[in-house]
Amino acid sequence: MAETVKSKQVLLKNYIDGPPKESDFEINYTTVSLKVPEGAENGVVLRNLYLSCDAYLCFLMQGPRSTRGDTFPGWPLGSPIKGFGVSEVVDSRNPKFSKGDLVWGETLWQEYTYLPEQRFLVKIEHKDVPLSYYTGLFGMSGLSAYVGFFEVCKPKKGETVFISAASGAVGQLVGQFAKLTGCYVVGSAGSKQKVDILVNELGFDGAFNYKEEEKDLGAALKRYFPDGIDIDFENVGGKTLDAVLPLMKMHGRISVCGVISQYNLSVRDAMENVAFVLYRRLTMKGWQVLDYMHLYPEFIEFVLPHVRENRIKYVEDIVDLDRSPEAFAGIYSGRNVGKQVIKVARD
Ligand SMILES: NC(=O)c1ccc[n+]([C@@H]2O[C@H](COP(=O)([O-])OP(=O)(O)OC[C@H]3O[C@@H](n4cnc5c(N)ncnc54)[C@H](OP(=O)(O)O)[C@@H]3O)[C@@H](O)[C@H]2O)c1
Repeated sequence: MAETVKSKQVLLKNYIDGPPKESDFEINYTTVSLKVPEGAENGVVLRNLYLSCDAYLCFLMQGPRSTRGDTFPGWPLGSPIKGFGVSEVVDSRNPKFSKGDLVWGETLWQEYTYLPEQRFLVKIEHKDVPLSYYTGLFGMSGLSAYVGFFEVCKPKKGETVFISAASGAVGQLVGQFAKLTGCYVVGSAGSKQKVDILVNELGFDGAFNYKEEEKDLGAALKRYFPDGIDIDFENVGGKTLDAVLPLMKMHGRISVCGVISQYNLSVRDAMENVAFVLYRRLTMKGWQVLDYMHLYPEFIEFVLPHVRENRIKYVEDIVDLDRSPEAFAGIYSGRNVGKQVIKVARD
């Protein structure tokens, strides 16, 4: 008989209504076989090490009322959270993976995961960097920063760049990529601690706490961009994007990576300044990182030397699996400082 283990897991208890709450999740146990069953030709069993907390997961938790159902078919209640993570292969019948391999890609929020088929699982080749980075810097967050900045915005030296939610998993990298390109970079974030990190640790030219500037976000932007913004890397949307539009320079580019302020609203913010897309001849592009996976090898070739030689830093906020409901809910209120990672087991 196959050896089995008791595996802690995080389940969706309630469909979310508004921003996710800790009480929407339940920590429970399941039993996982450590052997891939006979006949499951591509099956792998994973021991999970780190999990990635990502904002898009809320779409999958909104239940049948979700307006994103066409793009993101949701999960049934009681199912384990599915996401990206870093894992060790415990058993494999898939010829691409062997026992002991370290991988990143799809998994479940559990200590052990059995995947009969894998849509996305990548063997980790570079192990001289922290493995947790494959949830963020070397994972979807990093590729998003690379694609959304270089591919979508085509930045040039000397251009001015604004980044919202700048201390998050993606924003902190966009800022550093922009500095490496020779741009002037300012970010917004939700606390003094985050603003200090952006300026003093990550090399941003400026940063401000948008919560202190709520009355007139446009005035804050004007202080940092007296001559206008060439590139807006948008993570927040809503009122933030609306305040940015009149400040955009002629032929500016807006990379719509995310609109996190809108994800859990039943009535989304109205926008007053969309006319500036025309007046300033702006290019505004929404995009999805999964459409750019072919650029992953190019991205790694670009970013790895910068990380190894300490020109790019990465701020992570790591919590244990028991605290994952709190940590996940926290990304919608800015509790996380840097990439929110869940640690399941030691490397
Ligand atoms: N297009 C794609 O393929 C793609 C890929 C990856 C990520 N994304 C999107 O990119 C954005 C950034 O992702 P991330 O992984 O970097 O984020 P993250 O690390 O999870 O951080 C999210 C941050 O957003 C800020 N935030 C949350 N709710 C907010 C609100 N209502 N108003 C203003 N700020 C708010 C908070 O920081 P503060 O303390 O600063 O408020 C929070 O820490 C998200 O919108 C995400 O969905 C898109």
